[in-house]
Amino acid sequence: MSKRVIIDADKPLSQSLLWDIQRAYFLQAGMKAWQDDVVPSDISSNPVMARAYSQIVFGYLRDCFAAAQRGEFELDPSQPINIIELGAGSGRLAYHFLQTFLPRYRQSPFASQPIRYVMTDFVPEILEFWRKHERFQPFFEAGILDVALFDVMEMERPFHLQISKQTLTPTNTTDPVILIANYFFDSIPQDSFVIEEGLLCQNLLTLSSSQPEPDLADPALWDRLELHYEPIPLADTPYDEPRYNQILTDYEASLPDCSFSFPNVGLDCLRYWSGFGNGRLLFLTSDRGYSTPDALVSQPDPLPNLHGSFSLMVNYHAISEFASHSKGLVGQVPYYQDNIQVLAYLLGQGAQQAPETQLAFTEAVSQGGPDDFHALKNVVERQYATMNLPELLSFLRMSGWDASIFTHMHPHLQKATKTADPAWYPDVAQALQQIWQHYLPLRLDDTVQEAIRDVLSLMGYQDFTDET
Ligand SMILES: C[S@@+](CC[C@H](N)C(=O)[O-])C[C@H]1O[C@@H](n2cnc3c(N)ncnc32)[C@H](O)[C@@H]1O
Repeated sequence: MSKRVIIDADKPLSQSLLWDIQRAYFLQAGMKAWQDDVVPSDISSNPVMARAYSQIVFGYLRDCFAAAQRGEFELDPSQPINIIELGAGSGRLAYHFLQTFLPRYRQSPFASQPIRYVMTDFVPEILEFWRKHERFQPFFEAGILDVALFDVMEMERPFHLQISKQTLTPTNTTDPVILIANYFFDSIPQDSFVIEEGLLCQNLLTLSSSQPEPDLADPALWDRLELHYEPIPLADTPYDEPRYNQILTDYEASLPDCSFSFPNVGLDCLRYWSGFGNGRLLFLTSDRGYSTPDALVSQPDPLPNLHGSFSLMVNYHAISEFASHSKGLVGQVPYYQDNIQVLAYLLGQGAQQAPETQLAFTEAVSQGGPDDFHALKNVVERQYATMNLPELLSFLRMSGWDASIFTHMHPHLQKATKTADPAWYPDVAQALQQIWQHYLPLRLDDTVQEAIRDVLSLMGYQDFTDET
């Protein structure tokens, strides 16, 4: 048997070398992670998700304005309400959000209150890409969009907005903050624990390889890597923050023997951002994970799910416990979301101060939200071949003109258009126009553009994709 080389020994998961490998991947890949479709993002950054978030943000704005009118706090009309997206990656969620949110916001009673969406990531090259993208320019020029470097491992660094050249601090950012993090908590460090015969142990991780690994960015490293967890009884409370330790103590007292992860770095991040906005924070988040104790106890030791980078399931149950211990409010559906967990957390505001936010969450998520849409999408896309043209167009409309759905549907749409009565052509052309407008291209040789051109030319329509 060949001898294994230990490359990292007995570390709490959140301090493991695994996360250096993760960072090396994102830093090296830059925008290619999404241009080459390596890191999945269709389910977390699509128009349906953006529409749901926009509805919840509106509910939240209604609550904030009502509370300010009641004199519960002061809303400063000279500074924007910031919507800050962490780990924004491709930038597509931001683009979809602005498209659905802005027309409504501009006609709303809050239109005199400035609002700003800030896309963040820790990879400088990604920020450069966003800054140069022509589809973002009108939003930059209107002062409604900004970009900032934010690294959850270096939160002490000044939060500097690169377009407006302002630096946000807890002191100068007094209006409520809205935080968005999709497929983010699954990509940042977390810890792992085990309850063995009723005793809480911390899982320590050892990484070994068949050879020394000087280059953590080597993609072949994953084929050589082995992970080994060792549960070690805790000699002391593991965290400085009593609320984290309390959650672990509660788990030890209430859960059967099981293994679970703990989002310590995610919670640090949430605490950091709740220092802004005078403690008033709406946090919207979607990820692979679990939010009920039943799902929590059925988890194996955390194993990376590889897709260029890797991801681990997120323990939303612990985040909900933290929010409840912090007198916050949790927006969570009363059933299992099979594809993606979508949750909202309100910190710094009680239930009686947030009726509109809660209602909006119910309407946008619990009564049929992004997870439900994804489930149905999986079924409908297997039926494209049997669907007629109006049916295909209906589904595109319901998707919020999702270009990724259009790409999969394209051969069938092409075929259905070919045999359709030309009376349908204006509707098809209008659909293609909408898809193009709602799309954020990431590369020059773009397949969506090609597919749109194909259908336009089939109908004898002029190509509009060169004009943006
Ligand atoms: C799985 S991707 C998700 C991207 C996007 N939110 C989406 O849903 O498609 C994770 C993102 O988090 C960023 N990220 C990873 N580690 C980070 C860290 N330590 N601080 C800030 N962002 C980080 C990555 O660069 C990447 O954009």
